[in-house]
Amino acid sequence: PAQPFKITYATLAVPSEELHIRYEVALGKVRESLGGTVPMVIGGQPRYAERTFEDRSPINTDWLLGIFQRGTPEDVADAVAAAKAAFPAWSRTPWTERVKILRRAADLISERAFELAALMSLEVGKNRLEALGDVEETADLIRYYCDQMEAHDGYVVPMKQESPKHHNRSVLKPYGVWAVISPFNFPLALAGGPAGAALLAGNTVVFKPASDTPYVGYRLYEIFRDAGVPEGAFNYITGSGSEVGDPLVLHPDVAGITFTGSYEVGMSIYRKVAASTRYPKPIILEMGGKNPVIISRHADLDRAALGCMRSAFGLQGQKCSAASRIYVERPVRDAFLEKFLDLTSKIRIGDPTQRDVFLGPVINRTAYEKFQRYVEILRRDGVVLFGGNVLTDGEFAKGYFVEPTVVDGLPPDHPLLREEMFLPITCIVTVDSLEEAMRYANAVDYGLTAGFYSNDPEEIQWFFDHIEAGVTYVNRAAGATTGAWPGYQPFGGWKASGSTGRGAGGPYYLIQYLREQSQTVID
Ligand code: NAD
Ligand code: ALA
Repeated sequence: PAQPFKITYATLAVPSEELHIRYEVALGKVRESLGGTVPMVIGGQPRYAERTFEDRSPINTDWLLGIFQRGTPEDVADAVAAAKAAFPAWSRTPWTERVKILRRAADLISERAFELAALMSLEVGKNRLEALGDVEETADLIRYYCDQMEAHDGYVVPMKQESPKHHNRSVLKPYGVWAVISPFNFPLALAGGPAGAALLAGNTVVFKPASDTPYVGYRLYEIFRDAGVPEGAFNYITGSGSEVGDPLVLHPDVAGITFTGSYEVGMSIYRKVAASTRYPKPIILEMGGKNPVIISRHADLDRAALGCMRSAFGLQGQKCSAASRIYVERPVRDAFLEKFLDLTSKIRIGDPTQRDVFLGPVINRTAYEKFQRYVEILRRDGVVLFGGNVLTDGEFAKGYFVEPTVVDGLPPDHPLLREEMFLPITCIVTVDSLEEAMRYANAVDYGLTAGFYSNDPEEIQWFFDHIEAGVTYVNRAAGATTGAWPGYQPFGGWKASGSTGRGAGGPYYLIQYLREQSQTVID
């Protein structure tokens, strides 16, 4: 079909026949294009390494998506040098011109949305609606940052004058080379969002995708290139975290870092950089979550059950925002559980490129084996109310498929009620009061998202006053704790979930990529 198709939160909530057909046509095209060798790109030039790695689909590991380069510390050094060389010209390009280029990138993402989503389904195991959401979220993140840049007139602010002869202003300027390291679960939004913000601000970028999702990362490079980002301003390197990630974050010419991923890796980067750097540099860390939902006796239980099911099991529970702990007040426990388990039992598991499949595979063998180990502990210390098994027959034989799993009866201080599992496992805890629920909800290191269900306005205000989380939702059926959208819900964590508490897609995000210069001229 020739006409563009606008993907929005609304078109994804009620997908049309046309949306499905466009995705299926794109999927066919993408499948035909797979299997080749993909280079890194440094200073606009393809770069091949001596060693390579295979990118295979978690849906069926016989599906080879591509062969990627195992970069070396020398490649990292060259990428940083290329970004450094590109910085003077890019940073002095008028901000209005950078806005034009980044808006073009956002439009290209929207134009290519179905191909990008199809590739993402194959690479990550995301269902089509989740994949289209990730893609369009990327475009909207970039558009939102462009809007912010324009609304603030490039961040040049006249200041007070001591006398008519004094001319003072505050000017925000870029830092230099910015390292962007992204996780597997939102391979476009959490790469294109930070990289888009860094570029828009005038920094140049060295980007490293997760080893499980290099292909979507390469498509992001193509988008920036086609939009007009100059050679060297955006460099794409691939390889393992230790082989290329470490030399990248520790490189003295890297002026700022955005890392999105696990707490363990994020904190190790933070410590290593602090121990080695000659002067302080901005490090934006977006890390894990152990997100609670609290269900009051005054809740609409249908909404609560639907919101919890979507947030516990969407993308196989592999969202930093996933609902992994559900605290429910005793008087409504049984009624809530009946509805929640009913919805969970209706989840369709399978190849996520198929229509109506909700739950695809988990990302890789490590996650699949982790699921089995966790379930052993959960069976020992609690009661598995639903699921708990890996799926191995028929269409599941060659992928990493597991059941959505609901656990009850763990002691409230159990380690698995504190640790991020990052799997389709959620734990129910029955409480006697909202105060008890809040105590448990806040008693973990993480503070990313949280949900609450109640029809009592005083309880709602009480929830906002007490919950320790950066992204909060009340009475949301679309997702108890998931599904933030740029310009609507700024997305950033507190405590162990984030280093700055300034959410992506929110009003305070872009300025993190800029530093202030106070300018005074006297006539
Ligand atoms: P991960 O921490 O394993 O990897 C993230 C990235 O870091 C990857 O690109 C990886 O190759 C790289 N890396 C690994 N070791 C490194 C090192 N020593 N130096 C530099 N880079 C290194 O995370 P993952 O499994 O890809 O993603 C899942 C995690 O990400 C979960 O904890 C999830 O909660 C978190 N996450 C957070 C947010 C957020 O916005 N807060 C969003 C999505 C995911
Ligand atoms: N932006 C994603 C969500 O809110 C991570 O679920």
